[in-house]
Amino acid sequence: MFGENRKSERPDGLPKVLPPGPGGRLLTGNLLDYTRDHLGFLTRCAREYGDVVGLRFVNVPVYLLNHPDHVEYVLVRNNRNFIKSRGERISLGFLCNGLLTSEGSFWRRQRRLAQPAFHRERIAAYGEVMVECGERMVAGWRDDEIRDVHDDMGRLTLEIVARTLFGVPLGSAEFVEVGDALATISQRFTGRGGVFFQVPEKVPTPGNLRFRRAVRRLDGLIYRIIRDRRASGEDAGDLLSMLLAVRDEETGEGMTDRQLRDEAMTVFLAGHETTANALSWTWHLLAGHPEVESRLQEELREVLAGRPPTVEDLPQLHYTDMVIKESMRLYPPAWAFGREALADCEIGGYHVPAGTQLIMSQWVMHRDPRYYEEPGRFRPERWGDGSTERLPKYAYFPFGGGPRLCIGQSFAKMEAILLLAKISQQFRLRSTPGERVVPQPSITLRPRNGMRMVLEKR
Ligand code: HEM
Repeated sequence: MFGENRKSERPDGLPKVLPPGPGGRLLTGNLLDYTRDHLGFLTRCAREYGDVVGLRFVNVPVYLLNHPDHVEYVLVRNNRNFIKSRGERISLGFLCNGLLTSEGSFWRRQRRLAQPAFHRERIAAYGEVMVECGERMVAGWRDDEIRDVHDDMGRLTLEIVARTLFGVPLGSAEFVEVGDALATISQRFTGRGGVFFQVPEKVPTPGNLRFRRAVRRLDGLIYRIIRDRRASGEDAGDLLSMLLAVRDEETGEGMTDRQLRDEAMTVFLAGHETTANALSWTWHLLAGHPEVESRLQEELREVLAGRPPTVEDLPQLHYTDMVIKESMRLYPPAWAFGREALADCEIGGYHVPAGTQLIMSQWVMHRDPRYYEEPGRFRPERWGDGSTERLPKYAYFPFGGGPRLCIGQSFAKMEAILLLAKISQQFRLRSTPGERVVPQPSITLRPRNGMRMVLEKR
């Protein structure tokens, strides 16, 4: 479908120019090349064909956008012309009308209602729980032990979301069940199509059946958490209490259990694996860069002098912050996301017909040599030495942007910095010899076979 620049007629008589791209197979278009190697394929397309690349997945036109201005156009300047991509609507359909997947005035209202739970002052109160959870985890770690650190980070960040936003007690049967069900749900996206192309949920493949069972289990648990909180009438000051207290300005009605379920399921899913991956990749990078590791230690000694980090320390932990920022540049937990055009428009001089699926990839943009010197190198200093000062805004967008910017951005940044500081004070994590860690672009960018590392007590 795409190959050389193609032209056809617009109603005003001007030619409609379609973007160049790597011609595909007759039936499947570019889908097989994409499913074989998401990251490599998108990167090659961007480097070879430029800022807008025309692709086709079976009969669906897909454009890959590789210029920060184009990302800004879609997320900010003309955001009302775009909804979540078709692939995301199918694969995240089980989240129903939660924040990540709803659209229009309904989404706007829910976002307004949920926002206070993520305000800076509010999340500052969560800092203590974050450090406490980190402390509990390292208390169980032993010197010279080999552990799957990715698993540990997943459990830890889930504990934090469950406790801070839903008041689920640690170590409870509910907590363990939520973890198991979420792990099964996430597995659905590790298939070859990833988030952008899924076998619809109705098709009874073994994976889909497992997935549906896990969603039902998680539903049951979430409804129980909601019921218990309603019955107790307690105001725990967390997200759940806030959503329960909300009343519609016109009707005076509160949120239904169904709506609460959608929001809770969304936050459980969006709020733990992303941060767990950010931390896992940071451990991986630090293990390979002892010079960064020792500079980090220096800062932790200077600022904290051996005591646990607190929210008040955050403004002083500059280097720790740069380490997380650089780690999310190289291994962005949200490695790509999509939109669908509602009406015809033009991007970068190319015609975008209504219905076109747009992919914006943090993995591709964050490694673009036009914006980053030595893009493949882990160098946290680049965020403090002026070399990234003049970056276009959307050359770095780990949390998306515009009205749909990640609602948990401040939560996640604070959590990542506090946990990196807390854990590094007590342990150094070394790579296990001979282990190759490979990124797997699932719903988030995770290590394909986990991340086994050797713990060294300080
Ligand atoms: C490093 C960690 C995180 C990363 C990289 C990340 C990334 C993102 C991105 C890129 C989006 C925008 C998706 C789009 O526009 O299609 C998003 C949305 C969202 N994130 Fe995060 N996220 C992280 C942590 C969190 C946390 C901790 C929470 C909650 C506790 C959270 C909750 C959400 C929700 C609810 C949305 C949908 C917001 C809306 O559309 O109104 N995220 N996230």
